[in-house]
Amino acid sequence: MADDLFKKLEGIQACVFDAYGTLFNVASPVEKLASTIGEKASSVAQLWRQKQLEYTWLRSLMGTHVDFWNVTRDALDYTLEVNGVSEAGLADELMTLYLKLDAYEEVLAALQALRAKGKRCAVLSNGSPSMLDSALRHAGLDKMFEQVLSVEEVGIYKPSRRVYRLAMQKMQIADAPSICFVSANAWDAQAAAQFGFQAVRVMRTLGFNDRIPGRPAAVIENLAKLVELV
Ligand code: LAC
Repeated sequence: MADDLFKKLEGIQACVFDAYGTLFNVASPVEKLASTIGEKASSVAQLWRQKQLEYTWLRSLMGTHVDFWNVTRDALDYTLEVNGVSEAGLADELMTLYLKLDAYEEVLAALQALRAKGKRCAVLSNGSPSMLDSALRHAGLDKMFEQVLSVEEVGIYKPSRRVYRLAMQKMQIADAPSICFVSANAWDAQAAAQFGFQAVRVMRTLGFNDRIPGRPAAVIENLAKLVELV
């Protein structure tokens, strides 16, 4: 990792976190049912996530918003069909596990450290309010955020600027660079940077930038490093 991307950010009042992929491991439902799914498990996990994101972007462009629960189910049904996986009840089980995703192991301690340092913490996610509520409770993270913001309040998905603007409005922060936006999704960190936040990319997956505008101000391996940056 390039050292010049691990630099301290100035003037941060609040850390706003992406949820899926950043706080929560979205592959955990498939990992838990891998023996039922069989040899296709890793391609199911990968395609499910890819299609879930594609459907958010497609529906945002089409002006046909449905919430993330429906998008996630549609993406799963597509993925299971493509992979020829048709075990009875499997899709329902995977969706239930999506409400109880594993949080990455360093998340709780990182949030505690940020709060001890006086940083305001919030979530800004594609997830519907009930999905986020369930996952945060299950992971014991529900008391860690002053606000849990869902795109459902604006009816369009990331990376619409309306979503990032929602965080400023709800946190009552008028100056975008006072917000440190944290995401493991390259496109999300990049779009947030292009919007005006100081963005931090968490390298949970391959470390390439997408070929879209916006570059993160910093890149870290996991959230444990965040407290040193802000
Ligand atoms: C979210 C998706 C992008 O939580 O992971 O918003």
